[in-house]
Amino acid sequence: MPNIVILGAQWGDEGKGKVIDIFAPKADYIVRYQGGNNAGHTVVIGEDEFILHLIPSGILHKAKVCVIGNGVVIDPKAFLDEIDMLKRKGIEVAGRLYLSDEAHVIFPYHKKLDELKEAKKKKIGTTKKGIGPCYADKVARSGIRIADLLDEAVFKDKLRGNLDEKNVVFNRIYNIEGYSFDALYEEYSSYGKKIRKFVCNTVLLLNDAIKKKKSILFEGAQGTLLDVDHGTYPFVTSSNATAGGASIGTGVGPTRIDKVIGIAKAYTTRVGEGPFPTEFGEDLMGRIRKKGREFGATTGRPRRCGWFDNIVVKHSVMVNGIDEIVVTKLDVLDDLDSIKICTAYKFEGRVYRDFPSNIRVLEGCVPIYEELPGWKEDTTRVTSYKRLPKNAKNYLKRIQELLKTKIVLISVGSDRRQTFAK
Ligand code: GDP
Ligand code: IMO
Ligand code: MG
Repeated sequence: MPNIVILGAQWGDEGKGKVIDIFAPKADYIVRYQGGNNAGHTVVIGEDEFILHLIPSGILHKAKVCVIGNGVVIDPKAFLDEIDMLKRKGIEVAGRLYLSDEAHVIFPYHKKLDELKEAKKKKIGTTKKGIGPCYADKVARSGIRIADLLDEAVFKDKLRGNLDEKNVVFNRIYNIEGYSFDALYEEYSSYGKKIRKFVCNTVLLLNDAIKKKKSILFEGAQGTLLDVDHGTYPFVTSSNATAGGASIGTGVGPTRIDKVIGIAKAYTTRVGEGPFPTEFGEDLMGRIRKKGREFGATTGRPRRCGWFDNIVVKHSVMVNGIDEIVVTKLDVLDDLDSIKICTAYKFEGRVYRDFPSNIRVLEGCVPIYEELPGWKEDTTRVTSYKRLPKNAKNYLKRIQELLKTKIVLISVGSDRRQTFAK
């Protein structure tokens, strides 16, 4: 199999966990390249449900090597807890899980800063996992990397430097106590000892694998519209969730990546604040949220739901160079009389057919819809495209036509088996 990036084409939770799990048997390596434990990727295998936050979803396939790349931010406690969770469920990670020595470490002060910022009126609706403040330190060049954590002298020096600055902010701006060097040093040194065996130069590991003709699956986290550059800024996460992030976040050059697959739900969801032009009104919101079980896999928050937005997914196809599309959760639309697709936005008399950068346009625009008849049939037991109801096929055909991109796979339930090719 070639080297493939699989990523979310909307605002996250498109079903990346499920799709990665389906592609994993054909790959040798499965790699996370950005984000952190703000992600929640669900894989359902029979009666068992696994939610992975930091470890690639390919870990459930026992022979596969999983890598957490340099672009990911690591909460070491969350990392160790996830390994324990997998162990309890009979999944052994030893010898096939690697963590980049260049990945940045999330500290309690990052989480605290995330919480404090979120307590303000103008909030983003983050997962409060410390993701934004950790990436901010990375870009400010004051971050602490895994390699630093494992070197006593470097770690002491960097932690001291960070606390000297952060504690002033906590004391003077937020009027709260700061963090004790000794306690943090002790806690994180102990994590360092436990994670050391997973740590290596993953850039070398992956490029060596490519030389040996191994295939790599790059597992995106979040979604394109949450990308810090290409999303609904500032209502985004703090990393590059787009395909370019796969290269930056792993040290695998773009010429070594063969294909990009985008995942889109048959409708749209988002968690947290920020513009959402096709968001449902109360009645449909309740129905779709219930049927699609749209509650966050990381925070449990109810997800906001809306119609399929072609402006959004078309933007994703472009900025990611998406070759093929996977449509998930088609079954969630089974009961609807008619289904809408947004094809343009109207704002102050102007029609927008491409994704606007101005947040005021996104917040105030009126979506222009096409309406297609629903199929009113249960699709959860359908096992081939041929057997889908005619109106479901028409809906997918219309999406494919609007996106000018091939739909290759359709998902009609959370189980591995509820998936078929188009
Ligand atoms: P991810 O973050 O992109 O991996 O997605 P999440 O795991 O956060 O959310 C997707 C949810 O939808 C999970 O609960 C999946 O088990 C579920 N799911 C995935 N595909 C389908 C589908 O085709 N139909 C239904 N009904 N549920 C699905
Ligand atoms: P997966 O990988 C959906 C959202 C948060 C918030 C914004 C910023 O499961 O699709 P952050 O904590 O990252 O600073 O929050 O991004 N967000 C997600 N929404 N799925 C995710 O991950 C998300 N990860 C972050 O809700 O709006
Ligand atoms: Mg998720």
